[in-house]
Amino acid sequence: MKNGNRAKEQLTGDSKLLNRRTTHSEASESGYTGEETIPSSDILYLASTALRFVELTPEEDIYQFIGEQLQKLTDSSIIVISSFDEAFNNFCVRSFVGNTGDRDTFIEFLGRSPVGVAASISDKARIALTKGKLVKVPGGLYEFAFGEIPEAICHEIERRLALGDIYSMGFSCKGNLFGTAAIITHRGTKLASPSALEALISQSAVALQRWQAERALQQANDQLEIKIAKRTEELTKANKKLKAEVAERKQTEKKLKQTTGKLLESVETTIQAMVRIVEKRDPYTAGHQRRVTQLACAIARRMNYSEDQVNALHLAGIIHDVGKIQVPAEILANPDGLSEAEFSIVKTHPLAGYEILNTIEFPWPIAKIIYQHHERMNGSGYPLGLSGEDILLEARILAVADVVEAMSSHRPYRPALGIDKALEEIIQGKGILYDADVVDNCVNLLSEGSFKFEQKAKSAVS
Ligand SMILES: [Fe+2]
Repeated sequence: MKNGNRAKEQLTGDSKLLNRRTTHSEASESGYTGEETIPSSDILYLASTALRFVELTPEEDIYQFIGEQLQKLTDSSIIVISSFDEAFNNFCVRSFVGNTGDRDTFIEFLGRSPVGVAASISDKARIALTKGKLVKVPGGLYEFAFGEIPEAICHEIERRLALGDIYSMGFSCKGNLFGTAAIITHRGTKLASPSALEALISQSAVALQRWQAERALQQANDQLEIKIAKRTEELTKANKKLKAEVAERKQTEKKLKQTTGKLLESVETTIQAMVRIVEKRDPYTAGHQRRVTQLACAIARRMNYSEDQVNALHLAGIIHDVGKIQVPAEILANPDGLSEAEFSIVKTHPLAGYEILNTIEFPWPIAKIIYQHHERMNGSGYPLGLSGEDILLEARILAVADVVEAMSSHRPYRPALGIDKALEEIIQGKGILYDADVVDNCVNLLSEGSFKFEQKAKSAVS
């Protein structure tokens, strides 16, 4: 590189600009015959090259293409096309176009292709290359190579290939240099059309700038596509994992439903066993429980209860009087009505029912509903004397259905009072004894005729 600095200075200090306005004597000194105009054949060539530049894609090697195009105008000279990185003040050979003998000799002496050889130059040399004119490089190959190739080797190559003058011109735009084209002639040859060469290099500069921008854009696009592909792959994996999790959750839910279903079946079986016990002992009560359940569930549905809530009411309803198994049968079937003492025994049945069912684990508060089915809104019910919101809504529905069924049915101690009398009772007690909303729904249900109790053989005591 020590000798390279000398060469850089020579390029800027001693070289002369060669152009159409070069005087005859200057041109002669520089080896040119000088041309004021570009031959028409060269103009056609430049036009066709311009068209080819337009078609050039970022994938094609524009450096090689420029080198080949320039060589066609130079009578088999060697063309060296380099890129220039302004940030690092660095030239790098991108294409080396010459005949086979020229290329082989360079490779033989360098031990490698000249493509990839890099060098740096002085600011003065860089400025000279941005003038838009061909510059004759003073000295020989050694100076041209900025000392990157040993001097003895340069001389041997020059001798072997009979090299002549070397000319160079930068690819530049608005003072910015982004590459160079160099023409290494053979001894005894001259540049036939330097103006055409300058025009082609200027044309190449525009194409190279566009090509570099497109290539940078394409590389950015490629990187973006890689990122998108990677992200898509990540998302696909995440989606797959999510789908697997959803499938697993569905499977778990299905198993849970099956388990819940089996549990409910078991609950239902338990309840039905209790119902049968009650039926065996007291068929009146069993029938009463079924009919109360029908009405209570119909009211609940009318009140837009969920099927789950209706199920709870159904289970509570069909055994709501299960506690009566501790009430002597003769009291339940007493045709003469109940004494105060007997009635106080009957009033123990909600607590007895609660105690029987409280130990069984239901998904709903079945025991509590049964415990509260004789409570009244104003606190006048039994066994706890609960009032208003303290009474479960299911128990409030059961209470209304219980009263309506009991009054409309036959009792051992009285004939059936009829549905009208039963409705009259709940309307009178609406908001006082019975939940107002439940009463309204029950009255509407029965008035519309959309509900009918099942046919019954005998009635039971409430
Ligand atoms: Fe009851």
